[in-house]
Amino acid sequence: MDRLSGKTAIITGASSGIGRATAKLFAAEGASVVVGARRQTELDSLVSEIEADGGKAVDLAGDVRSEDYAKALVELAVQRFGRLDIAFNNAGTLGEAGPSTGVSETGFAEALAINLTASFLGAKHQIAAMQKHGAGSVIFTSTFVGHSFAFPGVAAYAASKSGLIGLTQALAAEFGPQGIRVNAVLPGAVDTDMYREMNDTPGKTAFVTNLHALKRVASPEELARSVLYLASDDSSFVTGTASLVDGGASITRT
Ligand SMILES: NC(=O)c1ccc[n+]([C@@H]2O[C@H](COP(=O)([O-])OP(=O)(O)OC[C@H]3O[C@@H](n4cnc5c(N)ncnc54)[C@H](OP(=O)(O)O)[C@@H]3O)[C@@H](O)[C@H]2O)c1
Repeated sequence: MDRLSGKTAIITGASSGIGRATAKLFAAEGASVVVGARRQTELDSLVSEIEADGGKAVDLAGDVRSEDYAKALVELAVQRFGRLDIAFNNAGTLGEAGPSTGVSETGFAEALAINLTASFLGAKHQIAAMQKHGAGSVIFTSTFVGHSFAFPGVAAYAASKSGLIGLTQALAAEFGPQGIRVNAVLPGAVDTDMYREMNDTPGKTAFVTNLHALKRVASPEELARSVLYLASDDSSFVTGTASLVDGGASITRT
């Protein structure tokens, strides 16, 4: 229970789902966590839960599209806990979905801004802080959609999330020599608010469940354990990867 002892981590998209579960697991493994998202009430209750369990956490609400917010999260980590070791850039949106001939430029741009540009802006400031002590682990939440699988009506989501894989490789190559690792986690379907919003009928749920070799979707806690691996020294020789955590969706045709 101390795989992240003495480390400080930023987790975005921590107000629910995968980010929330990961923040709780990181704190239980000894990390001091800085948690971000827009919903203040949800962040406050997460911090209270972590503290009640004996962990260390602080929140800062904001929109990941703002570079000032990216900078402020890093400054808070350094001021409050002295350093930054881990950053999980996980905030994301499905964006404007539906037939691509009807997707607006604004809707497409918004998905890129939240899913891709914001992740870059986060990493830019996080890596600058990690360079000061010559080590760190940056993780992006991509997805299997647009990598090993695609379905109609998610062009903005797929394009923005697969862009994270190129970003991962470029940053891993650039900062590997300084001991900073960069990886992307590619979840299959995970039972969160986003999943339930997309899969709101028994037919859709059955379709998505069947895409996975395990014939079920993941819990947020299962994803958190994979992110813990990428964050911790257990993955000390792992960088530049697009790490599928997809219940076998990539090898399933039935
Ligand atoms: N669930 C799945 O099946 C699945 C599969 C593959 C990948 N993913 C990815 O996993 C990540 C987490 O999603 P989830 O499934 O855990 O869904 P979720 O519970 O809806 O979480 C999304 C998180 O992103 C935050 N967020 C969204 N837009 C934001 C913005 N502009 N600024 C700051 N925070 C923002 C939300 O917080 P606020 O609303 O409080 O701002 C929330 O904490 C996303 O990147 C998603 O694309 C999910």
